[in-house]
Amino acid sequence: MKSVVIEQPNELRIQDRPLPEPAAGEVRVKVRYASICGSDVHIWHGHNPFARYPRVIGHEFFGTIDAVGPGVDSGRIGERVAVDPVVSCGHCYPCSVGRPNVCRELQVIGVHRDGGFSQYAVAPASNAWRVPDSIPDKLASLIEPFTIAANIAAFLKPTAQDIALVYGAGPMGLTAIQALKGVYGVKQVLVADRLPERLAMAKENGADAVFNNSETPLAAQLEGVQPTLIIDAACHPSILAEAAALASPAARIGLLGFSAEPCTITQQSLTSKELSLFTSRLNSHRFPQVIEWMERGAIQPEKLVTHYFPLEQVEQAMTLFEKDPRTCCKVILSIE
Ligand code: NAI
Ligand code: MN
Ligand code: ZN
Repeated sequence: MKSVVIEQPNELRIQDRPLPEPAAGEVRVKVRYASICGSDVHIWHGHNPFARYPRVIGHEFFGTIDAVGPGVDSGRIGERVAVDPVVSCGHCYPCSVGRPNVCRELQVIGVHRDGGFSQYAVAPASNAWRVPDSIPDKLASLIEPFTIAANIAAFLKPTAQDIALVYGAGPMGLTAIQALKGVYGVKQVLVADRLPERLAMAKENGADAVFNNSETPLAAQLEGVQPTLIIDAACHPSILAEAAALASPAARIGLLGFSAEPCTITQQSLTSKELSLFTSRLNSHRFPQVIEWMERGAIQPEKLVTHYFPLEQVEQAMTLFEKDPRTCCKVILSIE
């Protein structure tokens, strides 16, 4: 089979590899579509502290089960599935409280173990979620990025009363905007980004108002409006302090970033308004929820997609995705 392998940082190859055999409890998936994420680019360039090399990248993928390991119902062969990349131990403290995404022995498919930029990939059977016929093949790899929005929303509990502010209109911000409007019916979703093209995408994805904060700070543009719910999907360390200053009393703030840089914030700016701060990593069993959102048309994954490329052009696809945020959002690899 052909697989996209990062041999070591900055060394991407398409390799011929032997077909993997599914181990006990695993399925093998014949991958059909896989979407590119910022973290794939980070592994390529050696900027992901969790990655081990050589690695087949890709954690957003869809395909058909073509073989099962011992202990797995062979009736699943032929099933269309999207694969949850979060592999957890099932018995540590976070697993025991329903937070497998921060399992002490967390393994992420495409990061810690081989992933979906490949003609075939293996995964635990319980990570392979059946995709209903109403979700087309070419959009099913986008279930995973929407689980990030589902996971942070589960902490923030958006309501129709909320005025939400989303920082960043990249793929993560856009999935959050779609969920806030389409699933939770949030009254108003405001979005800040520095690129006009990304702000245009935010509008197409449901934002009620957009703000370019590249020159004029947001505070000067919001005219006293105090968001009650803020999601940082831009993830610059300076954003938290600004978000706390802009927030309404009793607001909730959700953080998605992984920066190792310190961010400076006073206790007073948080406690005086009794702000709630949540962080969210990957997803905890949110595939069924997102599949249900897609089935009933609450979210529109097609609005995120700007490009499809065949697997053979993976390097070109990842380079475009990395270098051109003005024209690219989700870039999807098609695998035959
Ligand atoms: P992206 O880079 O495509 O999007 C970020 C957007 O934020 C860009 O459009 C950029 O112009 C904008 N931006 C940058 N600085 C800004 C600022 N100060 N104010 C307003 N907008 C600003 O990235 P993507 O894929 O949307 O991911 C966003 C972040 O989410 C990344 O930092 C990534 O590491 C993180 N992430 C976290 C996950 C989690 O589970 N916690 C999962 C996936 C991504
Ligand atoms: Mn991703
Ligand atoms: Zn665990």
